[in-house]
Amino acid sequence: MAFKSKLPNVGTTIFTVMSQMAAEHNALNLSQGFPDFRISPKLIELVNRHMKQGYNQYAPMPGLPALREQIAEMIDNCYQSKVDPYKDITITAGATEAIYATITALIGNGDEVILFDPAYDCYAPAIRLNGGIPIHISLKQPDFSIDWEAVKTKISAETKLIIINSPHNPSGAVLSENDFKTLEEIAVKHDLLILSDEVYEHIIFGQQHQSILKYDALRKRSIAVSSFGKTFHATGWKIGYLIAPEEITNEIRKVHQYLVFSVNTPMQYALADYLKEPDHYLHIAEMYNNKRKFFVERLAASKFEIIPSFGTYFQLLSYKNISDLDDMSMATKLTKENKLASIPISVFYQNKEDNKLLRFCFAKNEETLERAAEILCKI
Ligand SMILES: Cc1ncc(COP(=O)(O)O)c(C=O)c1O
Repeated sequence: MAFKSKLPNVGTTIFTVMSQMAAEHNALNLSQGFPDFRISPKLIELVNRHMKQGYNQYAPMPGLPALREQIAEMIDNCYQSKVDPYKDITITAGATEAIYATITALIGNGDEVILFDPAYDCYAPAIRLNGGIPIHISLKQPDFSIDWEAVKTKISAETKLIIINSPHNPSGAVLSENDFKTLEEIAVKHDLLILSDEVYEHIIFGQQHQSILKYDALRKRSIAVSSFGKTFHATGWKIGYLIAPEEITNEIRKVHQYLVFSVNTPMQYALADYLKEPDHYLHIAEMYNNKRKFFVERLAASKFEIIPSFGTYFQLLSYKNISDLDDMSMATKLTKENKLASIPISVFYQNKEDNKLLRFCFAKNEETLERAAEILCKI
């Protein structure tokens, strides 16, 4: 046929592969990152109410003003940072669309984008589809911190953008104030843009989330991306937002308007109402921290090594004291023989680096976590 694949090396995502394998082998599925408990009944009732009231037609292209105003208030509450709801905030079809629209608006042929492996899987394809070149840098082992010296050596005249993700999927690592200070020096010196993927901002344990919106010099050159799907464990809703200075926002909206034009209306009305009560977003970390502790406590007797998770709803476990298998084979064996599905971490590396780590999603009810821990303790 007369077409050439633009993404010849992209296959079925690991999430689909592992979830299908889990279903085929009747395994407990801790692979894909989605919660198995219900979302707030109040949120459902609000969507229902707005649908019944007739709010079912196109929303404004950048998002419902009432929702953007509530987001600005939440940002001020959480990060003591003022954003302009009308000029700086755009409601998107999940963080994925925000990331795609950002990269499409800002990256062209030959532009280089620095990203850190293991990296969430939607960054590199978006860069490539726009003619850009992903420059992968591995996070340091064993703590998944950024090697800033390596970053400095990879910056060239073509470097346009650095993508950061904190709290980090899949490792659960978080960036520190010092990381942001170093990033600020580098970004200002080389006039770089920053895409800050903060979808797990409300799932952070024992510390304050360091949003890029707190750093004035960085904010001027940054796009912060958030996800209501993650925040309110409604991943199927595919609704999120991005925050960027007006000049950058204007460019991103040009793409957003032709990608989706606007995002589902009743959900936007419902979220605008729901955000009026800060209690709805201030206690999310607590709920997930309890789940994390529940899972980790039950793994005390297992041979797996627990890698500390400081944020996200993922827990990495090292099996280096258990097996020499590569991580894909180990994840497959665990799913088929032990009936527990996880995600091998090497798939998030361009160089397929294998550190004998598996990712388990603990956004599950206690019964599921208990059964998973029992299986792991027997290995
Ligand atoms: C780091 C990271 N960024 C972005 C996304 C995409 O979020 P959304 O479902 O809102 O598109 C995910 C979802 O798993 C993620 O883990």
